[in-house]
Amino acid sequence: MPCTPSDMKTVADIVARHDADPTRLVQILRDVQSTFRHIPAAIMDRLAAQLSIDRAQVQAVTEFYTFFSTEPRGRFDILISDSITDHMLGSREIAAYLCERLGVTPGQTRADGQVSVDFTSCTGMCEQGPAGLVNGYALTNLTRDRVERIVELVNDGTPVSQWPREFFVVKDNIHRADLVLGTKLQPGSALRWMFQRGLDSTLDEIAKSGLRGRGGAGFGTAMKWKFCREATGSTERFVVCNADEGEPGTFKDRVLLQSYAHQVFEGMTVCGAVIGARRGYLYLRGEYLYLHEPLNAVLAERRRAGLLGSNIIGRPDFEFDIEVRIGAGAYICGEESALIESMEGKRGVPRNRPPYPVTNGYLDQPTVVNNVETFAAAALIALKGGAWFSAAGTEKSKGTKILSIAGDCARPGIYEYPFGTTMAQILADCGGTGAMGLQIGGPSGIFIGAQEFERVLGFEDLPTGGSFMIFDQRRDVLEIVRNFTHFFAHESCGFCTPCRVGTSLLKNQLDKICAGHGGKADLAELTHISKLVRATSHCGLGQTAANPILSTLERFPEQYEQRLKAISFEPGFDLDGALEVARRMSGRDDAHAHLAQEA
Ligand SMILES: Cc1cc2nc3c(=O)[nH]c(=O)nc-3n(C[C@H](O)[C@H](O)[C@H](O)COP(=O)(O)O)c2cc1C
Ligand code: SF4
Repeated sequence: MPCTPSDMKTVADIVARHDADPTRLVQILRDVQSTFRHIPAAIMDRLAAQLSIDRAQVQAVTEFYTFFSTEPRGRFDILISDSITDHMLGSREIAAYLCERLGVTPGQTRADGQVSVDFTSCTGMCEQGPAGLVNGYALTNLTRDRVERIVELVNDGTPVSQWPREFFVVKDNIHRADLVLGTKLQPGSALRWMFQRGLDSTLDEIAKSGLRGRGGAGFGTAMKWKFCREATGSTERFVVCNADEGEPGTFKDRVLLQSYAHQVFEGMTVCGAVIGARRGYLYLRGEYLYLHEPLNAVLAERRRAGLLGSNIIGRPDFEFDIEVRIGAGAYICGEESALIESMEGKRGVPRNRPPYPVTNGYLDQPTVVNNVETFAAAALIALKGGAWFSAAGTEKSKGTKILSIAGDCARPGIYEYPFGTTMAQILADCGGTGAMGLQIGGPSGIFIGAQEFERVLGFEDLPTGGSFMIFDQRRDVLEIVRNFTHFFAHESCGFCTPCRVGTSLLKNQLDKICAGHGGKADLAELTHISKLVRATSHCGLGQTAANPILSTLERFPEQYEQRLKAISFEPGFDLDGALEVARRMSGRDDAHAHLAQEA
């Protein structure tokens, strides 16, 4: 259907609001989706023309992100978090009840166009689930009573802005604060100290602190800043805060952004001064849309206080500002190069590395990408010095780590610990003693059993980006692993065959075993594919997607064996048929996109 004059005007206004800047395509599509409830083909044509980009790019970006759709979603678009911890809190039953009461089928829009309900990957509310989103805004603590009320509100057409406030309350739930959460930072104080001490000395303090990236990989922060600062041949440098926080079970960045935003922005500003950047971006996951306005309010406050903009704290030589960009439901956009692609208005497909973002990042310019917690820690180190930070922790892991604890424990929430703390101590503090196992570092991390609870938090033993999920004896290990494996198959960006095909194969193989149709050959095949996906995938997603399977096969082989049938092999599915959807999504149908199954 062609655009009406009124649609054309609406689209022109959206594009103008974004300065007709093609790097803002994801932001523009977010606005189109929320205005039209989908992204119609005719509007893709208009966008391509107005932004002077290929129509194919608009379509590819639309189809890449799960928050965009080409078919109309409901006026009330409800998504239920599909994380394992939400399942444990009853999300599946709540979703079924909601669908029944609303008369909708999951994944479809009701015939009157009023409502759609579907599942989405972890929304980062793991300790206050079952959780979900309505028109992008976080819903917490869903109960049957709340569902009844939601059904009335939807059927009456009450705008989401008039729904009861308590449906949207997101608590911090901080139970243990240490260096980062327990130190008050007066806005601007770290910047003043930095200029007093000098930029070189500030970088030295960051180095002395031993701070390593808190997003998971643990690269030395001072080293990263130094490489970026020294990169040659650039016209500009950028600071990017990775607030994508998509790893299921992780929600500590949510709390930092909600209650410590000044500290995070101050850390970004310190980085900007050290590396010589004038612009910073905070890439906020779409699921945290509710934080957009509050974050912008803090930025405005900092501008008014002379802590952003030009002439920062009276220094005519220092200019720096920060903009928030929002994602659209793609876990892979947490990977730093995919995040940069997304910020440039493209599909979030990880780049080939090297070159790394420190030399060729946003707009091909030197860019520091750091996690939210890394910037929050850096601000305090600029204020209090490296020794203050490095006094806590272990030889290889200095300072503290903020954990997001969820699952089977009495007091789920946020806990900050010095590195070197044992799992047993953490479990005792949060009321999780008696756990059968822990998943550390989210699905891409590892699963450990009770006999390993003397192991410690740290890069040298058990690293984590923050996710810490607890499972007691009632839980079925294979169901947990199945949830994680489905997550990876869903979130694979489809760019490389081992991950695109392999994660689908792992999912199907595990489904077959869980359904009681697996034989010994299937188990061998599961291990074989797992190792293949790990060894040959292009980026960290594929390289870690088999971790849950491999770490539980090693520790709980009996759980798998109990499910096996006596026969040695039963073909469980039509391989090519099973991969058809993935091939269509990625536009791949060449010979290399097909894998023959080895019997
Ligand atoms: C699939 C994937 C998802 C990731 N998601 C995140 C994320 O949500 N937040 C984050 O800070 N880092 C994430 N990372 C790590 C980033 O690529 C990058 O290492 C990090 O942002 C660097 O910041 P840091 O040095 O402060 O940790 C992810 C990596 C991969 C492979
Ligand atoms: S490993 Fe997976 S997520 Fe990473 S590039 Fe390949 S297909 Fe995409």
